[in-house]
Amino acid sequence: MCGIVGYAGPKNVGDVLIRGLERLEYRGYDSAGVAIRSDDEIYVQKKKGRISDLFQGDLPTESLGIGHTRWATHGKPADKNAHPFLDCQENISIVHNGIIDNFNSIRDELTEKGHEFSSETDSEIIAHLIEENYDGDFLKSFKKTIRELEGSYAVVAIHKGSDELVVARNQSPLVIGIGSGENLVASDAPALLDYTKNIKYLQDGDIARITNQEVEIWDEDNTLVERETKRLNWDVEDAEKGGYEHFMLKEIFEQPKAIHDSLLGRLNNFEDVDFSKYDVDSVQFIACGTSAHAGYVGRYIFEKIAKVPCTVEVSSEYRYTSSSESSPFTIFFSQSGETLDTVAAAREANRRGCDTLAVTNVLDSSITREVDEVIYTQAGPEIGVAATKTFTTQVIILYLLAIELGLARGVLSKDEAENYKDELRTLPRKVERILDDKERIKKKTKRLAEAEDIFFVGRNINYPVALEGALKLKEIAYIHAAGYPAGELKHGPFALLTEETPVIALAVRDQTFEKMLGNIGEIAARDSPVFVVGDENKELKKLADERYFIPKVPPLFSPILMNVVLQLTAYYTAYRLDRDIDKPRNLAKSVTVE
Ligand code: G6P
Repeated sequence: MCGIVGYAGPKNVGDVLIRGLERLEYRGYDSAGVAIRSDDEIYVQKKKGRISDLFQGDLPTESLGIGHTRWATHGKPADKNAHPFLDCQENISIVHNGIIDNFNSIRDELTEKGHEFSSETDSEIIAHLIEENYDGDFLKSFKKTIRELEGSYAVVAIHKGSDELVVARNQSPLVIGIGSGENLVASDAPALLDYTKNIKYLQDGDIARITNQEVEIWDEDNTLVERETKRLNWDVEDAEKGGYEHFMLKEIFEQPKAIHDSLLGRLNNFEDVDFSKYDVDSVQFIACGTSAHAGYVGRYIFEKIAKVPCTVEVSSEYRYTSSSESSPFTIFFSQSGETLDTVAAAREANRRGCDTLAVTNVLDSSITREVDEVIYTQAGPEIGVAATKTFTTQVIILYLLAIELGLARGVLSKDEAENYKDELRTLPRKVERILDDKERIKKKTKRLAEAEDIFFVGRNINYPVALEGALKLKEIAYIHAAGYPAGELKHGPFALLTEETPVIALAVRDQTFEKMLGNIGEIAARDSPVFVVGDENKELKKLADERYFIPKVPPLFSPILMNVVLQLTAYYTAYRLDRDIDKPRNLAKSVTVE
């Protein structure tokens, strides 16, 4: 949801900014731009469109600058709404990620004072407000400006007479990269990996001054503070395509390692959460998008292993439900840890007296500051907008948490726990076997790519997998798809079934298998092409037009394997349609607006 980057140092600043923006493009790609302080002037180049379409000419090479890649909120994608913005005198330039709630009133006041605005955005007011507050001290005027803003923001500003980047963070991510003789700032750490692995994570309310030599940070009370420098364990290669045509495909293929890394050290000695501290008699899962689907899978896992009743809520809905008397143990999922609705839901859950845990992939992300406990998926950076390996690792964490909770509640024996753990250990190899079959799965997508509507049906723990399969296809192939509990199709959607409407049916040998066979028979009788994914079975072979049988696995663990098949299915369907797989239209990886 907009990516920002800033650089102060001796390297070619134009190159550093473009490189950083390329790494942040998954956060939005409606427009891009840079502002570079060079020879006491501010040079700005910005345009609607992708970074690769821009910056054909040479950019200034020194001495400091800021860049932005946009996901439009206020004002449509257009050259005039692209960041960075300048003040009237063209002394100051800013980039912003977030939403300024009180921008209308500030804009009116500034307009009365004679400021002229060139865009429809909320962000532009920041440059003009700094100009209005400027009395010769750039940092002072920036601090005064930030105190007047309401809303969410990560802001970086430069002044043509100053060799510093001034930055502020409130509810939008911003990290500082500490280099040697150079310092950087960006929306997230992978954008800085080419230059440094030493990262300072700013906190809400922080303001910082960054030059090539030093970094000073003030907290919300304007007290000079030290923020710990953390060493990132991600490599540049983790943030590169490494020979794959798309990040999404690379990330699908990284799943055996991501599962392995997420289990590492936790199977023998789980120390992330001590459930004996909590009195857990019900659990609720809260998240958005793919992460919410992990929550739905979690419900089945927790009910089976930890024998605890569970509910699932989408973050944006949870916040507006009436608060009930009970305070379930609440688990949030967020790959980025920055999804505004989920972070706000965590705040609300605390207000309601719930004990809270966040499952996230990003170190020190915003949600980690809102919850009692944090557990990190070890998926490495995920760049493709469509979530793949992070979903898989979220589900892996769910198995681990359910086992620990089951033990703590005394409803799971040590032997049962060990059996579950043994199954977890086998998953990387089983996922690999599916990945080795990619060409077979690819062949099966020809008919899907011709369809306008596709249904995904599943039962029990594979019902949420059907939801996730449908979401992946919508996101990257732009084909309308809907996920349903298999038994529900006849309550309406049957009216849409024709021989042009493929149905992807997920069937594993759990207690619903016979019912599922019946459902598939009903669908086949309507002449809809049936694609079965599931456990090998003669009946299924007969009923299905296409089939893919997964390696043997207990039904409880089948979502991991079934979902990998659906990820590849969505990927190759989108590939046939020549879609922009890593950057689907209108989407952003991290949604930091409500
Ligand atoms: C966006 C992304 C989805 C993601 C959702 C939640 O919509 O495009 O892929 O599932 O946000 O993101 P989070 O970072 O909270 O998991």
